[in-house]
Amino acid sequence: MSETPFYMQGNFKPIETEVSFEELEVIGEVPAALSGHFLRNGPNPTKGDPGHWFFGDGMLHAIRLENGHATSYRNRFIKTPSYLGEEVEMVDANGQMNRYATTANTHIVEHAGKLLALAESAFPVEVTRDLDTVGAVDFDGVLKTSFTAHPKFCNKTGEMLAFGYSFLPPYLTYHRVDAQGKMVQSEAIEVPGSTMMHDFAITENYVIFMDLPLVFKMEEAMAGNMPYVWDDSYGARLGIMPRNGGNADVKWVEIEPCYVVHTLNAFEQDGKIVLDAARYAEFPDVSFNSSPGLMNRWTIDLANSKVTEEILDDRNCDFPRLDPRLEGLHNRFGYSTEFADGPGLEMKQLIKYDLDARKTETHDFGEGVAPGEGVFAGVAPDCGEDEGFILVMTCDEGRQQSELQILDAQNFAGDPVARVQMPQRVPVGFHGNWAPDVR
Ligand SMILES: [Fe+2]
Repeated sequence: MSETPFYMQGNFKPIETEVSFEELEVIGEVPAALSGHFLRNGPNPTKGDPGHWFFGDGMLHAIRLENGHATSYRNRFIKTPSYLGEEVEMVDANGQMNRYATTANTHIVEHAGKLLALAESAFPVEVTRDLDTVGAVDFDGVLKTSFTAHPKFCNKTGEMLAFGYSFLPPYLTYHRVDAQGKMVQSEAIEVPGSTMMHDFAITENYVIFMDLPLVFKMEEAMAGNMPYVWDDSYGARLGIMPRNGGNADVKWVEIEPCYVVHTLNAFEQDGKIVLDAARYAEFPDVSFNSSPGLMNRWTIDLANSKVTEEILDDRNCDFPRLDPRLEGLHNRFGYSTEFADGPGLEMKQLIKYDLDARKTETHDFGEGVAPGEGVFAGVAPDCGEDEGFILVMTCDEGRQQSELQILDAQNFAGDPVARVQMPQRVPVGFHGNWAPDVR
């Protein structure tokens, strides 16, 4: 039996080259409405097995779509100090975590004209659309803690709302960045302990922190193990805070213990807060198969702190996404990636949720073809919800061929409208975004 971990083989196997190609082959037709870059981040270890799927050096892939063509592809390592082989201390002279120590391998987002490559333990790293690394971003020195890989964007105010968590106090910090890219608030939020907090959610007026029982244990860290472990005694709670409020304004509500890696969305409705996310009964192991992630709805009544829960779908999924213009607002549609049963981490198909009609559709990519995360791209800045495309990087292990597949969101189960042929295999990664030329 192979000793090689799953993230070092098959569709996950890292690649070594940085390449640039012009005019990619396309099966079908790239929609003329799409003008911009599809950007994808993920771990791509350069120095052998890093010990965990999460720990590889960050590599970005960019495909440019324009005038009905896939005009270019390029991939670049993110030139972080650790990638460059510089001596990187994890703890600085003040006993605080060195926030320049990062792989920046998890996500890529655009805000206030800057592209930021993100990993949750560190500062963001700015990159250009050509994927050149500019450097770490500390918001003119205001940012002192880590910065989540999953900030949220308010389409009304233009703000970027975020948080950071740490195993050293402050365990949780709220960050608010205005539309011009200025960090206007960075405030510690009191929690009972250090928990692993990968994502959060926003509504029109609130942010929602998820303080769940995956708790930091120093003895595990010292033993070289995954330092965040399940601890039933910690309890589980959601912290609802006015977006412009602070620690004193957080209302914590207890929920059934669970873990959430990624939220789909949250919004306010009839005086309550609705939160949809892939819910695990316990923390999933690295293959996401220890307990299934089921799309779940929490409805929180702030008046009496009562929370109701409802399972929306019984398939094992994660990587939920929505039309980004609706972050924090009512969304009818959402999209996620379903995992295959069995050992290892294998993506099976994409799911589309009609959350109002309580219906789902799936897109099956065919035998041996595994999809990544489905990213929504609208046909125009002012188009309706679901009026656009789902962009998804696929891997066909048998053919060693990756494709950027473009699905018509409104004909979700139908054939892709375009299959852009990648000139090299793109390993399975984490998250990506569509960066349109015009917003
Ligand atoms: Fe994530």
